[in-house]
Amino acid sequence: MIMSKTLFLLSFLVFQSLSANPLAEQFKQLGYSEICNKEQGSETFDSLYAHFDEFIAFLQKNPSWAKKLYIAKERFIRSKERNYYSTDFFGFYDESEKEGRKQIAFYYSTHFHEFVCSRYKEFNEVPEITLFLDTCRNIQNPFGTLFQQAASEIGLETIFSSEYGEPPVLFKVIKYLPSYNVLRPHYDGTVFSFFLDSTDNQSLLLSPYKSLFTVDDFFSPIRVFPRETKKSSILIIPGTFLAEFSIFPTPHIVTKSGQTRYAAIAFAMRPNYTAQKNEFSLLPAFSH
Ligand SMILES: [Fe+2]
Repeated sequence: MIMSKTLFLLSFLVFQSLSANPLAEQFKQLGYSEICNKEQGSETFDSLYAHFDEFIAFLQKNPSWAKKLYIAKERFIRSKERNYYSTDFFGFYDESEKEGRKQIAFYYSTHFHEFVCSRYKEFNEVPEITLFLDTCRNIQNPFGTLFQQAASEIGLETIFSSEYGEPPVLFKVIKYLPSYNVLRPHYDGTVFSFFLDSTDNQSLLLSPYKSLFTVDDFFSPIRVFPRETKKSSILIIPGTFLAEFSIFPTPHIVTKSGQTRYAAIAFAMRPNYTAQKNEFSLLPAFSH
């Protein structure tokens, strides 16, 4: 795994050295930066989505397990480890029946995984749960190193400093149902968000930060690195936790496609951080 991390980091470094604009400038001009994920391609993510479907089917068929997972999450957000991530988003969010949402998501972190498996040993005996959690752990593993590299690139080497020694990675897997239809873009409460993979890149629209937005400001970035068997494209955007350093967040929206869409995102969180009250520019409503 160390070798894998090194190779992954090299891919990133190669991209950075080829890039004409430093990261902060790319965020300002385009709203994002793209790097090539040479270690994880469509096979990796398709397998993740297949395990996610099995995990969802198990929890929907066994609501008592979904409840147990929810209780575990409620306990976890009262633990010390929660502050490392500075968020309460962990675990399973089934909004498949919720009008205006129509999506199912899982927020994974290594500390939450360890918490669940050590306090609720029965989870270790359900293959639909263990396979999915283990797949999440393997995929999110290299991103702590990449988050640190991106922070260094913008001169914020110490932003992830904590007793844990590496950046907090919150990994999200999401399934949008064909009836999904969210109308307004949003900002992420993160340092960086890495859009790792999606089965439909066209539906993700974003815009560099502005003082005034219209729907026409939002576009689907043209990918330099296509989704292939062995590699994929990663888009990096800044979240709201960089505003105090004059790096403003990139608003984004997943538009309605009428199809099932899967995506995987790695969020760089900020240890022991209380979000400041910031008034970011209002975001326009899309009508589909
Ligand atoms: Fe987002």
